[in-house]
Amino acid sequence: MKAFVLRSYGSPDQLDLTDVDEPVPADDEVLVRVGATSINPYDWHFMRGQPYVARLMAGGVGLRGPKIRILGCDMAGQIEAVGQSVTEFSPGDQVYALLPQGGFAEYVSVQQSLLAPMPKNLSYEQAAAVPMAAITALLGLRDQGRLRPGQKVLITGASGGIGTFAVQIARALGAGVTAVCSTPNAELVRSLGAGEVIDYTAQDFTRQGRRYDVLLDIAGSHRAQASVRALKTNGTFVAVGGPAGRWLQPAARMFAALALAPLVSQRMVLTDTVRSGEHKRHLATLTELIEDGKVTPVIDRNYPFADIPAAIRYQEQGHARGKVVITT
Ligand SMILES: NC(=O)c1ccc[n+]([C@@H]2O[C@H](COP(=O)([O-])OP(=O)(O)OC[C@H]3O[C@@H](n4cnc5c(N)ncnc54)[C@H](OP(=O)(O)O)[C@@H]3O)[C@@H](O)[C@H]2O)c1
Repeated sequence: MKAFVLRSYGSPDQLDLTDVDEPVPADDEVLVRVGATSINPYDWHFMRGQPYVARLMAGGVGLRGPKIRILGCDMAGQIEAVGQSVTEFSPGDQVYALLPQGGFAEYVSVQQSLLAPMPKNLSYEQAAAVPMAAITALLGLRDQGRLRPGQKVLITGASGGIGTFAVQIARALGAGVTAVCSTPNAELVRSLGAGEVIDYTAQDFTRQGRRYDVLLDIAGSHRAQASVRALKTNGTFVAVGGPAGRWLQPAARMFAALALAPLVSQRMVLTDTVRSGEHKRHLATLTELIEDGKVTPVIDRNYPFADIPAAIRYQEQGHARGKVVITT
């Protein structure tokens, strides 16, 4: 089968489109013909081996070279074959998953415990946009943020991959949404349900004098000390992401928010989607929201499989309007 194999840490030029053996599913795995995948910052952090601090961490990207050779954590596709002990799925089923690796390939072998049936009203491309970004939005708002109906949430980075899901999920949870984005994306976030928009090129949300119950900080544009000014005294700050750096960022900014906790009245928490587990259950929740018409993936660009390096180059610039997806 064709796959993009990462030679060594570096730019998208390190990804070789090459022939590799088709994976053979273990007893509890299924073989999926990948219909589509999508690009996440997670993929290019692994590709570049950055921030460097991640090379030193247990469960990190790999010290001397990339631990993962076939990247791609989002996947939607059709089951080709199932292992002996697989009871939940059959060949022909359409599924999606948040994978540890392997989505940038024609086939991937996946444990059945990670797979969820694909929403019936989505294409492969739309479904592949969902796992990493939408699970992160769901965990940040519902679990870490404990967002309740009638509360007010401020979402930074609202026009990006996670943000476009977050605006819709916050509305589905019954909250009032203020979205922080740049001028060209104001209409997009309003169309997704944001009642108010703060244009970050003209206004600073930390100096508006308005206070929210929850701040879902996807963009990480301000230090947490400044951001908490936009929270009620009993509000919750949820660190999700921030500008990437070579040595420490965005991890350092997120942990700095946690370190502030003893000094402020607000709850300071962070979202860690990969380590949170239970992705299958979260996908089932998202499937319900999607099939009910409450959440619809926003696709910025769709690239063919051979153009995965170009898709990563675009996503890495940090200005996608929704998700960047790949048709396999
Ligand atoms: N904690 C976790 O478990 C977890 C999981 C997945 C991802 N992440 C992190 O979450 C972050 C976002 O991921 P993503 O996939 O949503 O990225 P993305 O698709 O590139 O979106 C980033 C968005 O941020 C906006 N933005 C940039 N500067 C901003 C500012 N000053 N104020 C408000 N918005 C601004 C951009 O909009 P403009 O074009 O208007 O600038 C863009 O829409 C990354 O740091 C990623 O590493 C964390």
